[in-house]
Amino acid sequence: MAKKSDKSTEEVGQASEAQIAVHWREEGYYFPSAKFIGQANASDPAIFERFSEKNYPECFKEYGDLLTWDKYWHTTLDTSNAPFWKWFVGGKLNASYNCVDRHLKTDRNKAAIIFVPELEDDDTEVITYQELYARVNEFAALLQGFTSLKTGEVATFHMPMVPELPVAMLACARLGIIHSQVFGGFSGAACGGRIADSKSKVLVTMDGYYRGGVLQDHKVKADEAVARALEEGVVVEKVLVFRRNPGEYASKSPMVPGRDFFVDEIMPDYKGKLVEPVSMPAEAPLFIMYSSGTTGKPKGCQHSTGGYLAYVTGTSKYYQDIHPDDTYWCAADIGWITGHSYIVYGPLSLGTTSVMYEGIPTYPDAGRPWRIAERLGVTHFHTAPTTIRTLRKVGPDEPAKYNYHFRHMTTVGEPIEPDVWRWYHESVGKGEATIVDTWWQTENGGFLGSTMPALHPMKPGSCGPAVLGVFPMILDENGEEVKAGSGKAGNICIRGPWPGIFQTIWGDPDRFVATYYEKYNRNKKSTDWHDWPYFANDGAMQAADGYYRILGRVDDVINVSGHRLGTKELESAAIMVDAVAEAAAVPVIDDIRGHAVEMYIALKPGFSPDGVDEQVSRMIETEIGKVARPKSVWIVADMPKTRSGKIMRRVIASISNFTDVGDITTLANPEVVEDIRHYVQSEKVAHGEQPRELSEAELATIKGFGSAE
Ligand code: PRX
Repeated sequence: MAKKSDKSTEEVGQASEAQIAVHWREEGYYFPSAKFIGQANASDPAIFERFSEKNYPECFKEYGDLLTWDKYWHTTLDTSNAPFWKWFVGGKLNASYNCVDRHLKTDRNKAAIIFVPELEDDDTEVITYQELYARVNEFAALLQGFTSLKTGEVATFHMPMVPELPVAMLACARLGIIHSQVFGGFSGAACGGRIADSKSKVLVTMDGYYRGGVLQDHKVKADEAVARALEEGVVVEKVLVFRRNPGEYASKSPMVPGRDFFVDEIMPDYKGKLVEPVSMPAEAPLFIMYSSGTTGKPKGCQHSTGGYLAYVTGTSKYYQDIHPDDTYWCAADIGWITGHSYIVYGPLSLGTTSVMYEGIPTYPDAGRPWRIAERLGVTHFHTAPTTIRTLRKVGPDEPAKYNYHFRHMTTVGEPIEPDVWRWYHESVGKGEATIVDTWWQTENGGFLGSTMPALHPMKPGSCGPAVLGVFPMILDENGEEVKAGSGKAGNICIRGPWPGIFQTIWGDPDRFVATYYEKYNRNKKSTDWHDWPYFANDGAMQAADGYYRILGRVDDVINVSGHRLGTKELESAAIMVDAVAEAAAVPVIDDIRGHAVEMYIALKPGFSPDGVDEQVSRMIETEIGKVARPKSVWIVADMPKTRSGKIMRRVIASISNFTDVGDITTLANPEVVEDIRHYVQSEKVAHGEQPRELSEAELATIKGFGSAE
């Protein structure tokens, strides 16, 4: 039986998001064109039968068979150490071989990666599969010859969106070295914490990169990262620094002798060298990707080689509908899981052409993405709602000015408003492209919810049904199933594992079980997957037609422009400021970013509020990165608290969003609520912020906020 919530009603306050009945207008269907259906990789509904529950888990053989194995597996799914699932057991393969070498025979001179620099006058760089092979081998030789890294150890990357990043990833994969890429926009401190957690001896970085037309100093973050890692007891032996512009150095920070090395200076020794791909067991970790959750420390999601690669290859084939001759552009950052799975591993495993763009989509203007699409003949476009909202706001008429035609488009990372979806469909897709709204998470490796593009109609705002071989259910707090079409939301769970699921949290298997499985586990000793539903930490509801609508996180993670920010991480950063006694982070609904962060701060006695807002914002940028910078920092005399002393985040979240604060009679200090409301809302109005009506789903997020603790 599911564990009952042990929170008192007083602490939870109102019903959590997952319990709230959500009503919205059902949207109509949009259908793929006959032209699209005619060419799709999956156009025969028999595929659903092949992946039906009665064929689970053997159905995933079909994904495994998309790869080239050195040794074929003997067991598709091993559940003997549940919930630490093992896929394709006994199999051996190399991910770099699968993404590079195996395409040489037929496609050596096809473009593998087309790199578009942010400066529009700079030439695009076309890297053929043959050239990729050469570069991956050379960098693998360098890792082998110049560093002490061995198979099974971790290298941290803090790389921007440049082709050196996939090259370095594939070089690690070639040697069985686990890569851990930290989003380039994250701060040095955030990178350092991840280096320490993964015990990396080597950091791979770049001196600078272009953002908004300006060459950023990025190497300085490497120094901060190494210092932070050292504070946490981990020594980085070598920092390998690529140079963005050959022969120049984009950073003011000096190279540390004996520690920092320019890759271009050591590379001559390894030029032209070839390295045999190491045959890795299917369950060997391929990479770690850190993500936020309820508690302060980011979780290192560990992904496998065989299961992960099979899953991203299969979903790229059927859901991204990638064909070898396509020009596929996923505009995510490789620093996020989307980029790992659907810029690098999935598309390259299928031998297609993957486009990488360095910069921001609106540089130098909102026509840029469409000029790239026109020039390169892009067939697939993959991005997040936050980008679509921005492009719609600043350049609604831009797409029509350019002669490009997408066949397939993707939205990922946050719920998309139906209105925004329609603009994406009509203006960006010119009414021709089939859209998939893909729901998934860092932990999942690949898609969990999506329409099958040629076989299911699209419905704006809903991701669609579950993907092949994935069997979700929505559970209430007591473990009872919430039925499709009931109009009720609940916690979306997946009944059985799929090959892309992460293997564990790096170094913390107990947290892995506690976060994702404990809530609905039926028997801790069971080796039957039926007893271990995966708790996704998302609220969702299922319409009568079986389509899921994802409402957002139930674990107090704030989703800013598709980036997961943990409230605890934000709050821990804020209380590093001397004057701060208490801090609470809440989401405020934002028209472009989905959520923005607002911080509430109570000061230590005797400290002046002067400048504290800026200090808090800076500290958050230093500890996490610019992406986490709060929209506002509110300094209040006292936080609304329960009698047990817990800050009532839902109350301040309601104030920030101009919604009803709900029942506050059980608070220890209800009188502070009105003072805070008056102060915050009048400031907001004075700065031109207008209260706006929230959708039911947005309202549910605010009202349930803070209940996960
Ligand atoms: O809340 C869901 C939201 O993003 C979370 C996962 O974030 P992350 O691990 O950074 O991975 C993002 C890219 C896969 C989920 O728990 N989310 C993701 N995709 C969607 C979504 N919400 C609604 N619709 C989606 N398509």
